[in-house]
Amino acid sequence: MKLFVDTADLNDIETIASWGVVAGVTTNPTLLNQVEGDPDDIYRRVCELVDGPISAEVVADARGDMVTDGRRLAAIHDNIVIKLPMGAEALAATASLRAVGIRVNMTLVFTAAQALLAAASGAAFVSPFLGRFDDIGQDGIESLREIVEALAMSDYNTEVLAASIRNPVHVVEAARMGSDIATIPPKILYQMLNHPLTAAGIETFNADAAARAERAAS
Ligand code: E4P
Repeated sequence: MKLFVDTADLNDIETIASWGVVAGVTTNPTLLNQVEGDPDDIYRRVCELVDGPISAEVVADARGDMVTDGRRLAAIHDNIVIKLPMGAEALAATASLRAVGIRVNMTLVFTAAQALLAAASGAAFVSPFLGRFDDIGQDGIESLREIVEALAMSDYNTEVLAASIRNPVHVVEAARMGSDIATIPPKILYQMLNHPLTAAGIETFNADAAARAERAAS
């Protein structure tokens, strides 16, 4: 499973990209609202930092506006993927964008039925939201499982991009379910790095290496 970062924070993207594990980035209007700067400039910089699909979301209600804005955003860089919110207008816009070689990430997908429609429209990615299901007391992982299964048995080239990740367990479960990608907030990626036994083990190894060096020097 590929790992994407889910943020518009350039400092976090730069830091995490330096680990060498990031295959793409997703943003959305809420994430952009948490940082300063012109969104187009942010997308340009993200494309410099990460060589992979970079999702830029269109905010529009009508298919024509989605296509116009999607084409404008896609012109920023070849790696820009246009994020559209699931719905009839987005399905129609996806077909138009695909016809001119622009990839779409269908976002706000909650059911396998929605995922199948998105895949049939030619979306390159579908984004099932796990955490928002959990927020209303429902099982986001189970929904992801159904989506992965439904698309695996269909003849589409659509990748499943697990989104709305709230903890490292979501990431592991997404991988176990066979999701192609998980897009992960920086806070969760930092949590994924750590375990108390890793920290304790490093401390012991460092102490033993120092003790041996001291003995060798005496
Ligand atoms: C996905 O691409 C979205 O940006 C994101 O995962 C939404 O997550 P949230 O439910 O935490 O807002």
